[in-house]
Amino acid sequence: GKDGDLKDKKFLITAGPTREPIDPVRFITNHSSGKMGYALAERAIHRGGEVILISGPTNLDPPLGLYKYIQVETAQEMFKAVMQHYPEVDVVIKAAAVADFSPKHFEAEKIKKHGFNMIIELKKNPDILQELGNKKQHQILVGFAAETTNAAANAQDKLIRKNLDFIILNDLTQEGAGFAKDTNIVKILYRDGRIEELPKMLKKDLADEILDRVFLYMEQYQKL
Ligand code: C5P
Repeated sequence: GKDGDLKDKKFLITAGPTREPIDPVRFITNHSSGKMGYALAERAIHRGGEVILISGPTNLDPPLGLYKYIQVETAQEMFKAVMQHYPEVDVVIKAAAVADFSPKHFEAEKIKKHGFNMIIELKKNPDILQELGNKKQHQILVGFAAETTNAAANAQDKLIRKNLDFIILNDLTQEGAGFAKDTNIVKILYRDGRIEELPKMLKKDLADEILDRVFLYMEQYQKL
């Protein structure tokens, strides 16, 4: 019975991968399907939230009832869109798998094959969530972490460094977790060091679990 509990709360949710162009026909990307972010957007709308979904390229249909649907390709475009809407929202959930690096030079013409090896120089992309953490005012900031080694310690470090309120940790080594699946297995880490382990569940149900925690958090800190 949580229909409407997020009424009029403003959400900014990011989803999907980014695409970093190399030349007119090639790009660097990752395996993100966007399912987790789209599920979060759908459930937040269902519970009364006003949702801006900022998405990289996916095969998914946007949920009905979005306040805004902004499609982007590169990390840089996502950065711009997120920053533009940050001041007006109450909650940011960064479920997108943003590329950490992009090709330093975009080749205007399709690169020809010559020789056996080829080097593409990469430059660091802006860390959007870090920037949000630095500029945080009233917003609740939720991040995701996908790790293969030292998962909990890395996620805890990220939580503090990026000034997040909590972080959802996908352990990529577990069956039924992570990219492109319909299910996920996560731990939720809090600033006080608490770690909550959730069982394997559908991303749609996990979305509700995450939103339940956002609701509790808002209540606790009089942000409702
Ligand atoms: O540091 P790492 O990339 O593992 O952190 C993951 C979290 O940071 C995710 O919530 C992701 O959406 C966000 N992120 C970001 N901008 C980047 C890289 C990651 O917002 N350039």
